[in-house]
Amino acid sequence: MSSNLIVQAPEGITKYTDRLSDPCIMVIFGASGDLTKRLLMPALFNLYCGGLLSSEFAIIGIAFDSLDTESFRKKMTEDIKKFNTRKVFDENQWNEFVEKLQYTQGDFSDPEAYKRLAVLINATEAKLKTEGNTLFYMATPPSVFELVSSNLQLSGVKNSEKGWVRAIFEKPFGHDLKTAVELNRLLLKHWKEEQIYRIDHYLGKETVQNILAFRFANGIFEPLWNKENIDHIQFSVMETVGVETRGKYYETAGVLRDMIQNHMFQMLAYLCMEPPSSFKSDAIRNQKSELLDAVRIMTPEMVRTHTVRGQYGPGKKWDESPAPGYRQEPDVSPTSNTETFACLKLFIDNWRWDGVPIYLRSGKNLWKRGTEIMVQFKNPPDILSRGQSANNARIPNRLFFHIQPDQGIELRVQGKSPGPTMSTQTINMRFDYSESFESSRGTGYEVLLYNCMIGDATLFSRTDLVETAWRIAQPIFDVWEKEPAGDFPNYPAGGWGPKKTYDLIENDGRNWVEVVSRDVLEKIPLFKDTGKIFLYNLAINLRPDIYAPGDFIIKKGEVGTEMFIISSGSVEVLDEQGKIINTMSDGAFFGELSLLNATPRTASIRATSDCDIFILAKKDFDKVLKTYPEFLGKIKKIAEERYKVKLPTA
Ligand code: BG6
Repeated sequence: MSSNLIVQAPEGITKYTDRLSDPCIMVIFGASGDLTKRLLMPALFNLYCGGLLSSEFAIIGIAFDSLDTESFRKKMTEDIKKFNTRKVFDENQWNEFVEKLQYTQGDFSDPEAYKRLAVLINATEAKLKTEGNTLFYMATPPSVFELVSSNLQLSGVKNSEKGWVRAIFEKPFGHDLKTAVELNRLLLKHWKEEQIYRIDHYLGKETVQNILAFRFANGIFEPLWNKENIDHIQFSVMETVGVETRGKYYETAGVLRDMIQNHMFQMLAYLCMEPPSSFKSDAIRNQKSELLDAVRIMTPEMVRTHTVRGQYGPGKKWDESPAPGYRQEPDVSPTSNTETFACLKLFIDNWRWDGVPIYLRSGKNLWKRGTEIMVQFKNPPDILSRGQSANNARIPNRLFFHIQPDQGIELRVQGKSPGPTMSTQTINMRFDYSESFESSRGTGYEVLLYNCMIGDATLFSRTDLVETAWRIAQPIFDVWEKEPAGDFPNYPAGGWGPKKTYDLIENDGRNWVEVVSRDVLEKIPLFKDTGKIFLYNLAINLRPDIYAPGDFIIKKGEVGTEMFIISSGSVEVLDEQGKIINTMSDGAFFGELSLLNATPRTASIRATSDCDIFILAKKDFDKVLKTYPEFLGKIKKIAEERYKVKLPTA
């Protein structure tokens, strides 16, 4: 195969390159497990089909299951049909690829297994001329990392003197700071730092890598990227999946260990680090390390005020089917104190970020799936209302990194709305991966495996990075363990998370900015047939809030200027005497009269369950309305019928 390939966006890897992976033998420990069939094989096959794998490449699987090469190939051939990510699965290509697979059965503590492995490696190397390059992939629980590493050393299997020897380790890298330091110490007994490749699959995501390209390959952002111009930053990783069959693992983890301490801190480092001197591996990793090192370590008191934890109770899935609470999931204690949701407010103590709050939240079983980063710039001065009473209508610019499932970047700015007067509305400049690139569906592991095979460790974590990330999380674990949450479960499955998450940011005079997709609004009957532009504008103007059972959302007689849409939950409508005259739930709306007239509220509304509510303010409604004036008639008619009033014509 020519070494000067022009690779046209092979599926699963969008890095345009003319370099093939180095010749090598890849040994997968735990080859009969889930990770191999779901991610590793599909990723390796994608690399093969994309022409990025050297033809001097072989895979040797080793695991306890009694398989041999033939049955292993057969098993992988069945599994790939289910797990491949290719637009068109080419059976002929797979039949060529599967020839690269071999298997040896072995107990990881048995020296004989390593002898058999050595024989197989030597024979394969002699046949393929892989130059001694060997990649060990630990698709195993961390508890055997040391055992396998030391047996590889004792048996001489990893001591190739010819080529390179590398090892990829899957997370978790320790359970807390102490165990992470210990694990690192043990690994460094057997491997040199430059041989260790710790996988964090978030770093394999194109959109995460693009944070670096976006920040440092453009001239316009760097001068703005600091405390002078940025008000705060939000990181959200929301998942619709619950814990389901992973209870056993999850009980020992929780979202802080599972998502935040690793994936989210990596994204935080990319977004906030100082510019590296080059895009070389250590230049980038040094800056990441310095950034994480500058994150303020919380005191116990800060943990109590700057963090929120949650656990889901029974509720519903995004598709409306019933969902059990976390404590009802298999292998979960009925009194579990494990958090399935967490929110942190962090500060970075350096010259660039001093005083800028960074809010992070992540959770399972939430109303939507989406990973987003939002950078909010400081407010512009209010010159538009000069000479009139100030309406505090200053709207900050917001920059969004849509990591997944939407992939793109969006800058929300103010623009003049068409018409004879000078009024503005939020518009957006958006770059969408699917529109600009021939992007492809991969597993996310392609880029990581390929980079390891060419010796580029940029996308992998280093000992110091791992330990620094644990150092930030450790005081939180300490307080959470000592002071069990008294309010679990505190959000329903399918909801937005615990109410305290909203209080935490609102107490700072800020709001979570939810990325609401059009399809969420399309489900609400009021917005049916209102059109793409209207819904888009509406979506970017909604403010989310959560109410607990018993909270008054509006009170009779108050003059309000907002309408409320129930995303999930239920409320009751009360008359003057406090008698319940109606109830409402998901998809219903109230307070719409205020969008038309600032009149006193005609009834009180109280939440009867946890309520996730979108709020639309009159000033935003007036702007949105410009894109679909007919909506005014629709909402007026509803209000007139509902409240038995006659509203003035505009
Ligand atoms: C894994 C966690 O590391 O990341 C899972 O163990 C989580 O709990 C997953 O669901 C999320 O990954 P992604 O790529 O779907 O965001």
